[in-house]
Amino acid sequence: MPKKPIILGIETSCDETAVSLIQDDDSGIPKILSNIVSSQFDIHKEFGGVVPELAARSHVEKINIIAEKAIKESAVSLSEVSAIATTSGPGLIICLSVGLNFGKAMASSLNIPFIGVNHLEGHALSPKLHKKIEYPYLLLLISGGHTQFLSVNGLGKYKRLGTTIDDALGEAFDKTAKLLGIEFPGGPKLEKFAEKGDKSKFKLPKPIINKGGCNLSFAGLKTAVLKITNNIKSEQEKFDLAASFQNTIEEILHIKSKIAFEEFSKSNLTQLNSFVVAGGVAANSGIRKKLIEISNENNIEIIFPDMSLCGDNAAMIALVGLEKYKLKNFDDLDLQANPRLTLDKNAKFLKGAGVVL
Ligand code: KG4
Ligand code: ZN
Repeated sequence: MPKKPIILGIETSCDETAVSLIQDDDSGIPKILSNIVSSQFDIHKEFGGVVPELAARSHVEKINIIAEKAIKESAVSLSEVSAIATTSGPGLIICLSVGLNFGKAMASSLNIPFIGVNHLEGHALSPKLHKKIEYPYLLLLISGGHTQFLSVNGLGKYKRLGTTIDDALGEAFDKTAKLLGIEFPGGPKLEKFAEKGDKSKFKLPKPIINKGGCNLSFAGLKTAVLKITNNIKSEQEKFDLAASFQNTIEEILHIKSKIAFEEFSKSNLTQLNSFVVAGGVAANSGIRKKLIEISNENNIEIIFPDMSLCGDNAAMIALVGLEKYKLKNFDDLDLQANPRLTLDKNAKFLKGAGVVL
């Protein structure tokens, strides 16, 4: 019997250099043969955010080493690789270009297909690395750059139901953490702060909670947190503010998810069975708990990626690559990086002042 296809995935869209090899499997769930992620936290920490120039330089320095490591760990020889899949957008253009050039060079020298992958589609499909999921399903994508509810109707088939009209949720976590003096990236550490605080101590706003369907807004929250931090005197008050922020986010997602459930059923004229929550912020245990609660109440199965696959990684890129490979959906070697690649091309631009909901 011919061997099952093996895909080598590459991810360099922001501040993680990642390479992974996966192999198709009869079970319908691909096997992860290796999954190496190298983060750049130490490089960007002193600047309080990702510096594109430094990120790209680090990708250039590391991509070869990470690829060698991933290939060695997978115990696969290069001649067995069926195709190379690489993130082509969205992200920082100079970072995307590093992975793209590396991937194209590999595909060209091995004379195998090259496949460009939308990073957001990687997050959208990431739970399929450990579980079979039937289309259509509802996706809540919560990452550092994106916050959207989408109906996932098939590979490459997305309908956006709601989006943030300002900050992404990960961005809101990171900005709030910064105001509390937590070092970048603050999201995961803010959650730990919150565990030590009183969530009822500070009342924070829930922007556009009663309007705009399942669209979301977080910028007003950040302003409210800023005002409070100006008057904070003790460490305990910082914990209380973190807990109040975490609790407010959970309540916003609870209310907006419920609206998204209804919008999904209306849009697909079918009952919602599966709710997937993916992206870096899906690692937040308070959010997980709250969304499990509301899904159980509504008889909907909720699915999260494995903790290790919530943040940026190349296994999810290889997974999309594998699905495209099976459809012979390949790209030419002149594919360009697209920093603004979206999932639903038909969705209206909904950002900034003057947005009408
Ligand atoms: O998906 P991701 O790794 O990168 C993007 O594609 O943006 O998401 C990174 C974001 C960061 O903003 C980070 O602070 C946030 O996810 N994040 C968290 C947690 N873990 C990561 N936010 C809240 N709680 C967490 N436990
Ligand atoms: Zn991401």
